[in-house]
Amino acid sequence: MRPNILFVAAEAAPLAKTGGLGDVVSALAEALHNDGIHVTVLMPGYASALDNAVKLRPCGRLAGLPGGDSSLWIGHMPNSDVEVILLRNDALYRRPGSPYLDADGNEFADNGLRFAALSHAAALIASGATEIEVPHVVHAHDWHAGLVPMLMREYGAEAKSIFTIHNLAFQGNYPLASAAEFGIPEHVQQDASIEYWGQLSFMKAALNYADRITTVSNTYAREILTPKFGSGFDGLLRERERDLVAVPNGIDTITWDPVIDTMIARNYDHEDLRGKQACKRDLQKTFGLPFDQFAPVMAMGSRLTTQKMADVAIEAIPALLASHPRLQIAILGCGDRDIENGLRALTASHPDRIGLHIGYDEARAHCLHAGADMLLHGSRFEPFGLTPIYSMRYGTVPIASRVGGLADTVVDAGSIGQTVTNATGFLFDGETAQDMITGVDRALAMFAQPQLWRTLQREDMTAEVGWEKSSQLYINLYRTLIAEPAQAMFQPVSRERISRPAVEQVSMKRA
Ligand code: ADP
Ligand code: GLC
Repeated sequence: MRPNILFVAAEAAPLAKTGGLGDVVSALAEALHNDGIHVTVLMPGYASALDNAVKLRPCGRLAGLPGGDSSLWIGHMPNSDVEVILLRNDALYRRPGSPYLDADGNEFADNGLRFAALSHAAALIASGATEIEVPHVVHAHDWHAGLVPMLMREYGAEAKSIFTIHNLAFQGNYPLASAAEFGIPEHVQQDASIEYWGQLSFMKAALNYADRITTVSNTYAREILTPKFGSGFDGLLRERERDLVAVPNGIDTITWDPVIDTMIARNYDHEDLRGKQACKRDLQKTFGLPFDQFAPVMAMGSRLTTQKMADVAIEAIPALLASHPRLQIAILGCGDRDIENGLRALTASHPDRIGLHIGYDEARAHCLHAGADMLLHGSRFEPFGLTPIYSMRYGTVPIASRVGGLADTVVDAGSIGQTVTNATGFLFDGETAQDMITGVDRALAMFAQPQLWRTLQREDMTAEVGWEKSSQLYINLYRTLIAEPAQAMFQPVSRERISRPAVEQVSMKRA
């Protein structure tokens, strides 16, 4: 039997991406597809998705969905055979801005409604209310899809549900008074299973109702059971520990490969890194830094937020520049306005030492990862952390916080004099500027020893970071779940089913 899996997510690159979620949803779907799984991604019909999905055609109407009548459009992801279904409601999704923010960077006021509608659409598909083939498992990603498992029960869907935590800190908490508008059945509206400190929590609903919960690294799976990393849900997660599974992310090893990357100045591989010199030159040019072949160039490339310790980097950088007179820093990212402004000010006072691009685009990201010598990636918490792995592929050595997925993927090199086999980078503990500086100092000391550095680069570039293993882990999980009898965590206590939106159908003849 070929498992049929419906992914539900707010992002799937390249149709929509604001961070790692978009990368992972698409790359995992592709890996599963290549392993023979029928996987379809359901996501909102943002303008960018409607414009770029391939061979879109209508495949159903959902009248009466929260937020208004909507339609379903099926097609393919660009350059891929993975199916995508777009939930189309132009008033909800077709807007200027990013998936979550308006053009001025403010959250859309109706994000709760927008993602509640997505969850209803998924639950309706899972319950056979549309002409779309009913999946065996609905795999919901992050809080945006958090209402899916609960709604599946309400709609009487027999499919199993998995919820993957990509980031527990983003929870989708809204006033309880919105529950009716979000189409949450009356008997659940005040239920403890969705109520979180007087609010309605998409995350809590997911953690309570999903048949299985997964998260994206082994260390993060342990961390979220503790108050420090549990974001208020460590108690609930401990209750559900038996159903919590760690499945580490992989990366798309074709998009991020210096041997074939068409976005970098010159290709290279782990045996011959001469091309990396050309990439370094290109990086210095692109980021307005003076050309200096021997200067250590340290990259930073992430969302500029406190999660990524970008605030701490602002404190650490002046001291680093002072104690390492040749160090250059190239920064690509966007995020909190205060942090962006702090970095602008730092750059203005060190124009020859810091190159800054506020924003994000894939071409610059490839240029950054290929051209730098090292990547500074601080994190107060990090469920997985794709960026340091992208840099490793290009022989750009990561300096990262010892948390979450980073603690699993970066093997610390120790200090000169100690030999650490299979080391791939540098890990630092703590959240202060001095903690970060200590990590960078160790890296720069080793950079001055070309032989040792070369060994690190080789380890980085040959580390196994693809999806092969984890795709199999998910497939085993899907098969186990499919074989299990349906069991409810919260047995419906004489609950009335909510009345289904009248689902009007159009024919869905596949080409
Ligand atoms: P997170 O998902 O927490 O941001 P990851 O390192 O797992 O962290 O994934 C980051 C992804 O987002 C990478 O694909 C990276 O290239 C991309 N990225 C980094 N900064 C930005 C940004 N400012 N805007 C959009 N994407 C970004
Ligand atoms: C989240 C996490 C990041 C992870 C990504 C993909 O955005 O912050 O650590 O890599 O999701 O799972």
